[in-house]
Amino acid sequence: MEKEINEAIQGTATLIGKEEKGTKKLYLESYGCAMNFADSEVVASILKKEGYSTTRNFEEADVIFMNTCSIRDKAEQTVRNRLYLFKKLKKKNPSLIIGVLGCMAERLKEALLEEEKLVDLVVGPDAYRSLPQLIESVNGGQRAVNVLLSREETYAEISPVRLAESGVTAFISITRGCDNMCSFCVVPFTRGRERSRNPLSIIAEARELVENGYQEVTLLGQNVDSYRWNISKKGEIIDPNIPTTSFAQLLEMVAKVSPELRVRFSTSHPKDMSDDVLHTIAKYPNICNYIHLPIQSGSNKILKEMNRNHTVEWYLERIEKIRKIIPNCGISTDIITGFCNETEEDHKQTIDVLNKVKFNLAYMYYYSERPKTLAERKFEDNVPLDVKKRRLSEIVTIQRSNAYDLNQQQIGKIHEILVEGSPKKDKNQLSGRTSENNYVVFPKVEGIKPGDYVNVKINKATSATLIGEVVK
Ligand code: SAH
Ligand code: SF4
Ligand code: F3S
Repeated sequence: MEKEINEAIQGTATLIGKEEKGTKKLYLESYGCAMNFADSEVVASILKKEGYSTTRNFEEADVIFMNTCSIRDKAEQTVRNRLYLFKKLKKKNPSLIIGVLGCMAERLKEALLEEEKLVDLVVGPDAYRSLPQLIESVNGGQRAVNVLLSREETYAEISPVRLAESGVTAFISITRGCDNMCSFCVVPFTRGRERSRNPLSIIAEARELVENGYQEVTLLGQNVDSYRWNISKKGEIIDPNIPTTSFAQLLEMVAKVSPELRVRFSTSHPKDMSDDVLHTIAKYPNICNYIHLPIQSGSNKILKEMNRNHTVEWYLERIEKIRKIIPNCGISTDIITGFCNETEEDHKQTIDVLNKVKFNLAYMYYYSERPKTLAERKFEDNVPLDVKKRRLSEIVTIQRSNAYDLNQQQIGKIHEILVEGSPKKDKNQLSGRTSENNYVVFPKVEGIKPGDYVNVKINKATSATLIGEVVK
């Protein structure tokens, strides 16, 4: 049961590059969030200039990079287990270079080289430009670390090598880092200060994707609502000679790149999500009617301890506004059970919010204490593991049932789907998503291929999938 829950909710993806021709071979695995996946595409691009092409077969690789995640202890354990396999490979082939990139590299720094004797490189998220030199020093016989965080690095002008298989959807990073300091979260320590990327380079990247046949982009940031260009943290204009850009304006600029291009974004923060953003979504049919708005807990006491800077009432008001301005908007959330000092009453309040809002989707986790975070320093991790897990399984059950009910209401309706590919287990079917981010599966029809928009009538539904057929 626990395994099933974890698989259903942890969502840690292992994404491996598609094959490309080149002399030296790079094998890349990405763990954690979409931002890490987008970073792997930047890494592939930096190494491409050095003559490396990506491979899906680690056994033929000259370089193996793991782009790692530290968000929960389990994420780090997954990486350690996988590393075990690569280390065995290196024992057979000593010239193989193994690099640990990403958030674990940044969190553990030199200690990782101490602990993992067969790892050659430890490189943090802001230091990927130094990879070619670091590889050179490894070839010269030295192990290398670069975990310098930057206040400016956005990799703005690097054109990512697209690693996703579909060729239909792609990620574009718009901000890096995070200034929020939620007390449970390791991200501000692994990714540094928040910075926004030049809007012109974002638009150029979206245009390039359209030219290459992509039909959907997801704009990425830990808190997309705090995107700002030429505006100081206090809200003042920095340079009067260039235009300012807010997230709502950026969204509009990307939507205008092509009416055929679907635009998504993630993650929104309840304390910052503005009505301007909602009106922009409502105005442009190609901006998807879907918002991922993590609440974390339904208890004001816990939200305060988490340092989320908003109340449950504020959150519910945001939900009301979303539904008023964007009718039928898909809404998803993140929840943590068993945070420090969480009582049964606090847990009940989280269940109340689930039942009040009725989310289409939720990513649910039990609390995992992370070194150096505010919570680790200030509070005791005092909810026993079995209680954390029991509460998690309760909310998973309730969420599943709510999502099932919502999906049943879709039966008989017709949705426009962007075809992304086939479900892993059934190549006779096609799959894609509605604007509201519902996953839809339907039988293959002659002439319809990934990248096409089709109308699908929904005939059946589970808690996670709508099942339908193509209609004219
Ligand atoms: N920037 C996003 C979240 C990024 S992390 C936001 O603010 O919403 C993704 C999710 O992982 C978080 O929303 C939270 O639910 C979960 N998470 C983060 N730290 C965690 C921890 N220490 N233990 C359990 N879950 C955690
Ligand atoms: Fe972590 Fe909070 Fe920043 Fe999200 S907003 S990345 S949860 S600190
Ligand atoms: Fe993990 Fe780092 Fe993303 S900790 S969730 S990979 S920002």
